Amino acid sequence: MSINEALALHGGPQAVTIEDPHFVWPVIDQRTHSAVARQLDESVSLYDRSGVIARLEDKLRQRTGVEHALLTNSGTSALHTMYIASGIGPGDEVICPAYTFFATATPLLFTGAVPVFADSGPDGNIDPAAAEAAITSRTKAIVITHMWGLPCDMDALMGIAQRYNLLLLEDISHAFGATYQGQPVGSFGHAAAQSLQGQKPLTGGEGGVLLTNSSDVHYNGLAVGHYNVRCKREIPTDHQLSEFAVTGMGLKFRIHPLAAAIAEQQLDSYDEIQRGRDRVAARMADVLGQLPGLEVIQPSAGATSSWYALLLRVTDDVPGRTTAAELEKALHAEGATEVDRPGSTRPLPQLPLFQKPEALFPAYANHTPQPVSAFPQANAFHEGILKLPVWHRNADNSILEAYLAAFTKVWAHLERHGRL
Ligand SMILES: Cc1ncc(COP(=O)(O)O)c(C=O)c1O
Repeated sequence: MSINEALALHGGPQAVTIEDPHFVWPVIDQRTHSAVARQLDESVSLYDRSGVIARLEDKLRQRTGVEHALLTNSGTSALHTMYIASGIGPGDEVICPAYTFFATATPLLFTGAVPVFADSGPDGNIDPAAAEAAITSRTKAIVITHMWGLPCDMDALMGIAQRYNLLLLEDISHAFGATYQGQPVGSFGHAAAQSLQGQKPLTGGEGGVLLTNSSDVHYNGLAVGHYNVRCKREIPTDHQLSEFAVTGMGLKFRIHPLAAAIAEQQLDSYDEIQRGRDRVAARMADVLGQLPGLEVIQPSAGATSSWYALLLRVTDDVPGRTTAAELEKALHAEGATEVDRPGSTRPLPQLPLFQKPEALFPAYANHTPQPVSAFPQANAFHEGILKLPVWHRNADNSILEAYLAAFTKVWAHLERHGRL
């Protein structure tokens, strides 16, 4: 196929003719099968911090350099735990990124705290200036998500949290393995939460993690979702929570041991996969960064990405002011079906739950929603980006090159004709 052929959108040949699926994640191989089989024989229900639970928690602690790791059954429950365990409650305001997956903010509605959204910067991450401008006397914490694997501006955000005496909380679901000035994400804040859901860089199929250097947050976290045996064995008898050990706070957020076994095996091969992603991301950036009107969103100086995804911003310089939606359609027609415009990850103020939480949560009867128009950067980011998976295996090189050819072909057409 030459890049000068007619677009598939107009009846020409497709640039990508390789059969689906084009991107397979997670990597399930013999090592995963063996890990699950071993765990099946060992135990499928663990009440305490033993076996695979202890091993995975310890590996996560060592990897992030954080004192405590607590596994949960999802990222959503890890976030829920993080908020309650950090003492966030009714009337508190928590500054949240306007642009993130909704589970970063939804658990706050179960605590009685008010999510206050702050606009994003040009990379889709929370804009520190917007976060600072949203602070009031009721603000208790700032939660941040390192979007699509790119670390947030931690110097600025840590500075703000310190100056205003606020808790800084991290959602590292997209960014496990990413670093900022050499330090792993998840180790900056008062606490961090992570999803181990099937698409995430580190996955157990389902699951979550709470990371913290604070013993109190850890013990509170045990009380939130790990009643009875874990609370009895791990909360010191002289701690005020000890008398509640049997019931904890009554929720059950334990991870399934088979999910933990998968996540442990995935963690053991994480570095190998990350090296592949780094190589492929560099190749993608080399080619795609040449195309007029397409900007590859890169980590800031001194930061590294997990490359959960490669994000491309369609700028005003694109020939014919072609939109991201139109480009997605042309690229899909070329067979590049993994090109995506994220849907459920969107500016949260657009969602009915945050516009009228009182419909589902009566405690929010007097809530005043923030208008969607107050987040121009988040809205523009959402409308203007294309997302690609970042492959990691040499075996996927032909798919990678076919996708790059699809982009090059669409852009060659745009430059010749000034439009699609
Ligand atoms: C940024 C972010 N936070 C939280 C979650 C929720 O995690 P889970 O699906 O494991 O509950 C997800 C994705 O699912 C996410 O992308």
